[in-house]
Amino acid sequence: MILKSIIDELLQRTDIVAVIGKSVQLKKAGNEFKGLCPFHSEKTPSFSVNPSKQFYHCFGCGEGGDVIRFLEKHDGKSFRDAVAELASAAGVDVPDGNGGNNDRRKAETAADNHALVSRISDWYGEQLLGDTPHIEARRYLKDRCIDRETAETFGLGFAPAGWDNVLKKFGSTASLRRQLEDVGLIVRKDKEEGHFYDRFRNRVMFPITDSRDRIVGFGARAIDDQQPKYLNTPTTDIFRKKCELFGVTQAKPEINRTGTVLVVEGYTDVLALHQTGVTNAVATCGTAMTAENARRLFRLAEEVVFCFDGDAAGRQAAMKALWVMLPEMTDGKFASLIFLPDGEDPDSLVRKDPDWFHNQLKADLQSGLDYLLGKLRDGSGRDRLDGTARYFLRIAEVVGLLPADGALRKIVANFCLKETGACPLSHVQGPAGRRRRKQ
Ligand code: UTP
Ligand code: MN
Repeated sequence: MILKSIIDELLQRTDIVAVIGKSVQLKKAGNEFKGLCPFHSEKTPSFSVNPSKQFYHCFGCGEGGDVIRFLEKHDGKSFRDAVAELASAAGVDVPDGNGGNNDRRKAETAADNHALVSRISDWYGEQLLGDTPHIEARRYLKDRCIDRETAETFGLGFAPAGWDNVLKKFGSTASLRRQLEDVGLIVRKDKEEGHFYDRFRNRVMFPITDSRDRIVGFGARAIDDQQPKYLNTPTTDIFRKKCELFGVTQAKPEINRTGTVLVVEGYTDVLALHQTGVTNAVATCGTAMTAENARRLFRLAEEVVFCFDGDAAGRQAAMKALWVMLPEMTDGKFASLIFLPDGEDPDSLVRKDPDWFHNQLKADLQSGLDYLLGKLRDGSGRDRLDGTARYFLRIAEVVGLLPADGALRKIVANFCLKETGACPLSHVQGPAGRRRRKQ
């Protein structure tokens, strides 16, 4: 354990306003600083930092704590990394002698957290599928044509309306409440009195599993007009939102059988596809495609098929996803694209045409890399010499991101040579992934 006295010294020597000020624009107001809360979206500032108390707190969402907690919650750092970072900035020595114990304690805490989340997920499940289910939730599933088998396969549940169902049932002691807060299931109302309330209320719960099939978080769909429509577990010690993909646990057998994974946008899209027999679909967890997602997808399958809307926003999202995939495109990996007809998402489409996806997946799919290069060519103005140079730079950027030791990099470099008359390999230094794309 890192000694409490060292932590206290660290907190005292750290300027909490400067640390948080790197991520949040803060304005002085009396003896506090105010800004827009980074933990929920808001238009008027309810987030405050109090330098004399060494505390931050948001009156809107209840998030609050010391600067270490801020680095944990906001930057996704582990406790130990947050302490190390602050210590080196403040010039405080943190003895590392008991690291082993600390790691063990952390592992035990994580196991406890997994067990708690899993118990609560079971309880949500009972509320939806148990002997005395909430009929409003059942009606919602029925309206959305989600059948019982699919609901069971994905372990769907229901968080009933009310502010303290989970809190009362699972938070009988202060340490349990602290744990519930750590896994994102309850929210602190105000730091002084330690009042809490349930994060998820009147929502259908979609459990999200990690690579070891443990439930680590939830996507939660409102069944009334609550905003936002989907609320997700925030990043916690066990839920790394950027890394996880919804549905992998259920899709794994079919991904392994076919070598293909289909990536869609929404939780309900995954369900609808599964229900029509397209059982290799997964979704990102309320974020755009991340580098972590890309790595994971290509570890799971040889071919990653992205499914996007056919509109301008969908095409833009496709381009973004393809850029992120480039560093992971080792030889033998495929990134492909499917564009949906206008105005449809996979969920709505399979209701109208259950065979649409089966047919698409059977046909030749559009290559993501060819699509990307085609888009780079469009609008580069390569019918002029200076336009050709611009086109060259764009392809060189792609080449620079592809794995350095792969044939694919040489193949695209060769394509560039044919297209522009210049070879990009001399423009590209170092292994792929090191160079960062601007924008
Ligand atoms: P969509 O708005 O396309 O929702 O968001 P959907 O999947 O079609 O949902 P239904 O059919 O209305 O139920 C796609 C995904 O974006 C994230 C969720 O992961 C959702 O599945 N999202 C959306 C959020 O995280 N928050 C939101 O408020 C909305
Ligand atoms: Mn939808």
